[in-house]
Amino acid sequence: MGLTNLFQSQAYGAYETKLESEILKGGPLPTHVAIIMDGNRRYAKEILRADDPKEGHVKGKDKLEEVMDWCFDLGIRNLTVYAFSTENFSRPDDEVDFLLELIKDTLVELSDDKGIHEKRVRLRVIGEKDMLDGNFLRAADEAMARTSGYSDFNFNIAIAYGGRQEIVTAVKKIATDVREGRLDVSEIDEALLSSNMYMGDIPDPDLVLRTSGELRLSNFLIWQLAYAELYFTDVYWPGFRYVDFLRAIRSFQQRNRRYGR
Ligand code: IPE
Ligand code: IPE
Ligand code: MG
Repeated sequence: MGLTNLFQSQAYGAYETKLESEILKGGPLPTHVAIIMDGNRRYAKEILRADDPKEGHVKGKDKLEEVMDWCFDLGIRNLTVYAFSTENFSRPDDEVDFLLELIKDTLVELSDDKGIHEKRVRLRVIGEKDMLDGNFLRAADEAMARTSGYSDFNFNIAIAYGGRQEIVTAVKKIATDVREGRLDVSEIDEALLSSNMYMGDIPDPDLVLRTSGELRLSNFLIWQLAYAELYFTDVYWPGFRYVDFLRAIRSFQQRNRRYGR
């Protein structure tokens, strides 16, 4: 590490410690953080100067494991990340295959991870199962089965996920219950719809964070994010630092959540 970098990292270290203690003394932490992990390909091109965007995806995978620790160590008990959207299937085949393989490896690693079992983290894969192949689903089922008894923390990974599709699936389930006489139309309300979503038993995210400077949700949790606080940062996902994470949490604590009042 050069002198400038050393100085920068020490200065950031001190700043992080200060931010961390402000946050722990500050208002309540979010109960559920949702993250749109965006900017891998731009990171590969602009920061790594790599010709292959896959190099950015590999760095993005490492970052996810880091961010999970930041979140749980701070005491935020629910984390949901957007790893692959239903729309991402329209990318070139080799990129789709590479990404799904990388996510599958992540699931295999997480289900064996010491920290996951020590902290009693329940892993969940959410998304359109029929868009994924058998190998992938086996890894997902194994990660979920091995942690299904835990409830201290929830870590949800959205893969082949689309917010509109999730609502359509919930509506189909409800419509079937009505048709088969298990449910009356008058019983359909927001709570019923919520309970038919993939994470019906977890509070909705109260903070959603997107990296890479894009200011949109890209079909992520559109039902659940109705009243979430939004936080956008310009850094690309693989370059996301602890200090950026802490800034997002502090920003959340400084918001006035009025809920229309
Ligand atoms: C996020 O990075 C990963 C996925 C969407 C799967 P991108 O691959 O979208 O990278 P950018 O946003 O084009 O830089
Ligand atoms: C959103 O990122 C999906 C994920 C982060 C998995 P995209 O890069 O696919 O979104 P757009 O294309 O910028 O809307
Ligand atoms: Mg992107």
